[in-house]
Amino acid sequence: MQTTLTDSIAIAAQFIRAGEVVAFPTETVYGLGANIFDESAIEKIFLAKGRPSDNPLIAHIGKRADLHLLAREITPMAETFMEHFFPGPLTLVLPKQANISRLATAGLDTIGIRMPRHPVAQSLLQTCGVPLVAPSANLSGKPSPTTWEAVQMDLAGRIACILRGEQAEVGLESTVVDCSRVTPLLLRAGAITLEQLQAVVPTIQIAQPSLSEPQRSPGLKYKHYAPQARVEMVVLPMTFVASDAAAFIGLHPPASNVKHCKLCQTIEEYAHSLFQFFRECDAMEIEVIYCEAVSEAGLGLALMDRIKRAAHG
Ligand code: TXA
Ligand code: MG
Repeated sequence: MQTTLTDSIAIAAQFIRAGEVVAFPTETVYGLGANIFDESAIEKIFLAKGRPSDNPLIAHIGKRADLHLLAREITPMAETFMEHFFPGPLTLVLPKQANISRLATAGLDTIGIRMPRHPVAQSLLQTCGVPLVAPSANLSGKPSPTTWEAVQMDLAGRIACILRGEQAEVGLESTVVDCSRVTPLLLRAGAITLEQLQAVVPTIQIAQPSLSEPQRSPGLKYKHYAPQARVEMVVLPMTFVASDAAAFIGLHPPASNVKHCKLCQTIEEYAHSLFQFFRECDAMEIEVIYCEAVSEAGLGLALMDRIKRAAHG
């Protein structure tokens, strides 16, 4: 299949209408979108990514009115979160409407919904006129793509179209909160921080992986965000024995020499750069990537979550 690269929202929307899948920029990472009401287009997402069919997709909406097409019930807590954080990098899990394909929700009775704030994503959603289901636009298991070039590297020849934009602002996937239950549960940390969520709904809890409970967020059990290189988390100051093929990313200069080094001024820059750095390291055939540990406060919680997953697979 030939993959069309375009800057035109109209062209991208035409592909969606024709039942194809289109990669597009959002403020978190690039997504791979399909019309939520088109089963065969949804199937193409799973095929293109090599995604296991028990991993549910997030639905993206352009306007609040579309929420009712997707969610059977909007809990008061969900209303509160939406009031404060929509549009933005927050996904809310709610009971789904009966007509939403179980392929999209991987058989679950709930659906994850988010309203991106990225102007290109918003404009694409308005032009298509339907919600789009969109996982991150990477091959399953690879780091999420934060640039259109990263999408191209993973999916060229496998999808119909890539809508080009800038490098994603946040660089980590959205915060996911399960609002389908009495006490909201943080399923995945992201740029809307636990502290921000607690400030508006103090009862929110962090999901603990539990054997007795059915998997709440099936995506979390899969190997994620992993570059080819081995990832190790390091606490500075510490000297690690760096081989010729080592790289480092963090906030402070490491004491050892490394072949490829990325120093970030802030946690935001670290989060913004992490997945792109993983991909650069793979292109340079780096064997081990040292990632500086940071405090698990604010955006640090999401950043540490992604580093730990990349390190332990
Ligand atoms: O920032 C993002 O969320 C990006 C952009 C493209 O919007 N999308 C993204 O999608 O990261 P994906 O498919 O890579 O991750 C979706 C996560 C998975 O961990 C999945 O298990 C969880 O959301 N999820 C989706 N629907 C769910 C549901 N109904 N219940 C529980 N977890 C759900
Ligand atoms: Mg993903």
